Amino acid sequence: MSAQKLLVIFATHYGQSALIADRVADEAIASGAEAAVRDVRNASAADLERCDAVVIVASVQSGRHARSVERFVKRNCGRLGSIHSAFISVSGSAARPETLPEADTIVREFFSATGWCPDEYQLVGGAIKLTHYNPLLRFMIKRIWARKGVTMDTKRDYDFTDWDAVKRFAKAFVESETPHRAVA
Ligand SMILES: Cc1cc2nc3c(=O)[nH]c(=O)nc-3n(C[C@H](O)[C@H](O)[C@H](O)COP(=O)(O)O)c2cc1C
Repeated sequence: MSAQKLLVIFATHYGQSALIADRVADEAIASGAEAAVRDVRNASAADLERCDAVVIVASVQSGRHARSVERFVKRNCGRLGSIHSAFISVSGSAARPETLPEADTIVREFFSATGWCPDEYQLVGGAIKLTHYNPLLRFMIKRIWARKGVTMDTKRDYDFTDWDAVKRFAKAFVESETPHRAVA
């Protein structure tokens, strides 16, 4: 049997989703699949035609996923629905059990807005890259997390991604023969 051809598409603001997409592809290759990674801004319908499985990785900013990924999914909903597919939603809310329900609500809104029902989805904690933000954003993000009881040092970055969970998800996705519908 020929190797599964996986396409990993990402949409990112500060790079974390791109790193996660790379990790998914690396793990897929280690599990025997062929895998390519594309920024959603360069991804096309033809790319989707050439693969038989797709993972889309997108981050949450101000309560929603990027419009670029929403447009891509809406435009290609038919093809996405006909191949093995997964969505990885990257957010600050997914980093803590107390705020996980917020992350779940945002991803469900995304599915209902786009009409896409991937076989599987995963909520993944993102990174807070305080040293990359401008002073106003740094102040605002620090304040948002302080309200949740988390004190942040603005001179450093925080990586909340559970990289082992990302690897496990990628391996299970590539190896699963009977994908299930995760979204009701
Ligand atoms: C300006 C800004 C707004 C954000 N808004 C949200 C939000 O509404 N909900 C949330 O859970 N996380 C939020 N986050 C956290 C991001 O989802 C997290 O930093 C993620 O790792 C970003 O991934 P990216 O680098 O791939 O864009 C926000 C982060 C920034 C910088």
